[in-house]
This record gives sequence, C-alpha cells and structure tokens, in this order.
Amino acid sequence: MATAISTPNIAFIKYWGNRNNPLRLPMADSLSMTLSEPSVEITIDHADTLKIQSSTMGEDREVTGKHLDRFQKVIDLAKEYLGTLGIDDALPGELSIRIDSHIPPAVGLASSAAVFSCLARAIAALITEKKELTDEQVSIIARLGSGSAARSVMGGFVALEAGEGASIDAAKAVQIADENHWLLHDIVVIPSREEKKVGSTEGHALAATSPYFAARIQAIRTRRQQECIDSILEKDFEKLQRVSEEDALDMHHVMETSNPPLKYLSQETHRIVGEVKALRETKHLPVLFTMDAGPTVHLVCTDEATEEVRAFASAQKGCTIFESQVGPGARGK
Ligand code: PMV
Repeated sequence: MATAISTPNIAFIKYWGNRNNPLRLPMADSLSMTLSEPSVEITIDHADTLKIQSSTMGEDREVTGKHLDRFQKVIDLAKEYLGTLGIDDALPGELSIRIDSHIPPAVGLASSAAVFSCLARAIAALITEKKELTDEQVSIIARLGSGSAARSVMGGFVALEAGEGASIDAAKAVQIADENHWLLHDIVVIPSREEKKVGSTEGHALAATSPYFAARIQAIRTRRQQECIDSILEKDFEKLQRVSEEDALDMHHVMETSNPPLKYLSQETHRIVGEVKALRETKHLPVLFTMDAGPTVHLVCTDEATEEVRAFASAQKGCTIFESQVGPGARGK
C-alpha cells in the first residue's frame, strides 16, 4: 500500500495541442507554478481488478464509465513504460485506488493535474523496492493521465519539455526553480461553477484545426518558453507578466478559432481582466492574469501585492474566491 498527496498548478506558458494524443506528447513546451493547495490524496494497493473509490469534499462515489476507462489506460501505459525501464513485473495485476480530493469541483483549478501527479507518485512509492524512480520518470507516468499533471510532480516552477519523437518517455517535466525561489501567490476568481462542456483531452485534439495553431507553437519554441524561464530565474515580474498574458490570450485565440470553436472565456472573464488591467495601471501593482480551459481568472502576484489583489478579488460580485501560493508538488505520505 502507498499514499501520496499532490496539488494543481497554474501555467504561464500553456500546453494546448499534442503531436500524439493517446500518449499525450505535446507539440510544444509549457511552464507552470505548482500550487500549495488545494490538495488531493491517493492511496493505492495491488488488486485483481481496477477499483476506484473517490471522495470529493466529503462526497463519496465509485468511479465508473469513461472516468474508470481513463485510469485503466493510464495504468496500462504506465506498465508499458515501466517495461522500458526493465521492471515490467513491478505492477503485475491491477490497482485499488482511493482518491480523497479537497478540490472544489468545476472551479477552474486543474483537478486532473493534481490527481494524475498524485497517482504517479503513489505508483512510484508502491514499486520503490523494485526500482526507485527519479522525479522525471514519475512525471512521465503522470503525463500519461494528463499532460499538465507532469508539471505538478515537482514543486516551484516547472517546465514540461515536449522533446522529440514518438516514444512514451519523449516528454518529461524539469524543475526550473524550487518553491523557495520566489514567493508568488495565485488569487483565483471564479465567476461560474458550471461544469465545462468540452474537456481539455478533447480540446487538445482540436487545437491543430485552428489557423493560428502553428504560429503559436512556433512562438513558444523560438521565444516564449525561454523568456518565461528567464523571467522566473531573474524574478522579473514585468517580463513574466508580458509573456504569460501574451501566451494565455494566444491560447484562447487558438481555442476560439478551432473547428468547432471552443469558447471558454465568458463576459465576466473579460470584465475582470479589464478591471485588473485598470487597477494595476493606477496602482502599479505586480499582478498578472491568466485563464485555463474555463472562465476562471487566476491573478498571480508577488507577496507585497497580495493585500490589494485580495481586496480586488473579494469585491467581485457573485464570484467565488480561492487563494493559493507556490507549493512543493507531489510527495509521498
Ligand atoms: O493536462 P490537460 O490535458 O488537462 O491540459 C491542460 C490545459 C491547460 O490547463 C489549458 C493549459 C495548461 O498548460 O495547464
């Protein structure tokens, strides 16, 4: 039996579009900050058939249907990957999995990133007597469940390197700087708690239908990823703000021009973004906005800006607010 704990992350350079969908091999690098909360805890053990019990904020259910299929695929692929490391007997049968999530559902905090990074860490703990996996190897297992999950395996600021080729281990996460490097906060403004209609797995498969997809991939490969890494290493907030907002808006442009179009941002999102821009201009606040596959606005700011950003967030009528900061990533328990 093994238990792990993990959390979501928020990306500054977004992962959107794969070169291989079943293996979740991305087209381009991405980069995120691992969050300190909310957390997910997973306990796994060897079993004859796959069985998953899940409890979200105290509400119990058994995982079935397409959700169960997704886990089955991850376990099958994880076995395939462990085979390439010479330990194909490490997971001989199936797993019983118990998921305890403290992530409020449908709030735009990536629960799949937390869940699959946590599962990967638990698998690594379960097989540790056969082989001790490195963080990069754990990130490859996490990626098989959700691309962004690879980044939550480590703490602080983490890149998912797309790599080259079609092998299962071609893309992996690397830590750019740990959680003690730069204290940034993520104040999350949630305008709507409706479940999103098109999940990111389906969304990735549509990305290449946008006429703007190729240019975005090119921009990340030639410039944005490196600018983002530099801004973090130099703790240059203005640079981080510029490149991350440029990339987030570009990703939404790709989403909205894909076929069929995916419109994740709402009028409320645009209103909040407009007000944040106005606020930081008048008050010279180090705060940036970014949005994933939903209307939720993440306001990432430095420590000295938190009070004003918190006040701004609390003043948003009808919105739920959630607060987090840079965190340590998936770990054994
Ligand atoms: O890991 P996935 O398949 O849920 O994709 C994540 C996609 C975004 O959240 C929109 C961007 C990102 O890099 O986190």
